[in-house]
Amino acid sequence: MFQSAAKTLSVSRWILLNVRHYCKKKTPSTLRVSEALSATEFGQHVKVQGWVRSVRPQKANLFLHVNDGSSLQSLQVFADAQLNDSLLTFGSAVEVTGVLKKSPHHKQSVELEADKIHVVGKCNPLDFPFKIKERHGLEYIRQFPHLRCRTNAFSSLLRIRSEATAAIHSYFKENGFVHIHTPIITSNDCEGAGELFQVEPSWPKTEEEENFFSVPAFLTVSGQLHLEVLSGAFSRVYTFGPTFRAENSQSRRHLAEFYMVEAELSFTQSLEDLTQVMEDMFRSATEHVLAHCAEDMDLFHKHVTPGHRGTLDSMMKKKFPMITYSEGIDILNHSTQKFVFPTNWGCDLQTEHEKYLVKHCGNIPVFVTDYPYDLKPFYARDNQDHPRHTAAAVDLLVPGVGELCGGSLREERLDLLSARLEKVGLEDTYSWYLDLRRFGSVPHGGFGLGFERFLQCILGVDNIKDVIPFARFSHSCVL
Ligand code: 4AD
Ligand code: MG
Repeated sequence: MFQSAAKTLSVSRWILLNVRHYCKKKTPSTLRVSEALSATEFGQHVKVQGWVRSVRPQKANLFLHVNDGSSLQSLQVFADAQLNDSLLTFGSAVEVTGVLKKSPHHKQSVELEADKIHVVGKCNPLDFPFKIKERHGLEYIRQFPHLRCRTNAFSSLLRIRSEATAAIHSYFKENGFVHIHTPIITSNDCEGAGELFQVEPSWPKTEEEENFFSVPAFLTVSGQLHLEVLSGAFSRVYTFGPTFRAENSQSRRHLAEFYMVEAELSFTQSLEDLTQVMEDMFRSATEHVLAHCAEDMDLFHKHVTPGHRGTLDSMMKKKFPMITYSEGIDILNHSTQKFVFPTNWGCDLQTEHEKYLVKHCGNIPVFVTDYPYDLKPFYARDNQDHPRHTAAAVDLLVPGVGELCGGSLREERLDLLSARLEKVGLEDTYSWYLDLRRFGSVPHGGFGLGFERFLQCILGVDNIKDVIPFARFSHSCVL
């Protein structure tokens, strides 16, 4: 009985193996373009899906380039001219099956000899806003937020953005930070600048209902205060998420919705504890992107922002210098350049001042510390100095952009913090924040880095709207 069971088993196993073998032979495995391009074994029957980047029909042959977003390089497909189809145009979506071969051409190492080309989605080249072989500028492609990912430049940007996000998470993970999802809806105005978007249900309020959340609620301008809550139990925390500011600004470095990386460290001794993390994170994310997105970075540095690679290389070579705000003001006042905005001690640094200071320091990132106390939000730690009263705050200014990071030591002393909050009538609103100073308060501090500005800085891109998948800014049409 056992013998016949074993026999039955081996027969069924034989059938299974043969069915598998048959299926393997008949169903080509689907490869992403990047996988096909890095193949070292040839002769496999495979399927590739993507969008046509070029079509070159010849008398006997047809050449296509197919891209699926997995790499900047497209896969060359060649086929018998009989497989040509009038629907095979630049921008159309295709599914190609064929055999992977070692390419005889020096431009690529692999090509796909097609036996079947199926047009999945047609694309009228006359109506399509991008033209074959044309290098469209960032400003032009910005007009088509729903289509610009089809261009080389924007797809490179999106791969770089994705890799930079991963690099930042890796940096924090490797350095013992706990990732916290801070809320998007909050009643706090962390920065106190009143640049808030209010959140309300779209349906009309009932008479007895004042607010859905019982208090006015807003989209967050910063996750800092929530990170400070967590830093009462975790010595290193960070968050990386969308942040919103209702700034009526049409500038090249402001968005209404942007991504901010924020870190908070407990048991800090000085601002250097923060600047060390800011600089390390900047370097580590930049190095990662240069190593893992080399082709995409080259595309930007060669064709979109030529000359920027040199600037980036020199940023990476030297340690970021540190000057105080007061030293910065002296530098500005000794300059021969005429500034639009005043440069008196106590004035906020404007982009023109920030850019000047960066140039003055050798066109590399520079930390500016110890800003006037009255310029900084309520949470910034009082340096208790005279007559120039300053707070232990720091900004990182970078070439081409200006302010990339803003941070500070936080006022951990209950008496000083409650006095400041009382002065602005916020001691009740922030009673929970004062509690943090009542129960196990420690010196702590943190910073926020504008992720889009980081991308602008490493890529040399002038306009922030060109480094985010879907830009939100005032007076824009929201897709
Ligand atoms: O300097 P900010 O306002 O600092 C804070 O929000 C702190 N609470 C962060 C913290 O300490 N946890 O913003 C931080 C950074 C800026 O340096 C800038 O790079 C970026 O966020 N940023 C913007 N980026 C794009 N569009 C805007 N409207 C931005 N506003 C600030
Ligand atoms: Mg700031």
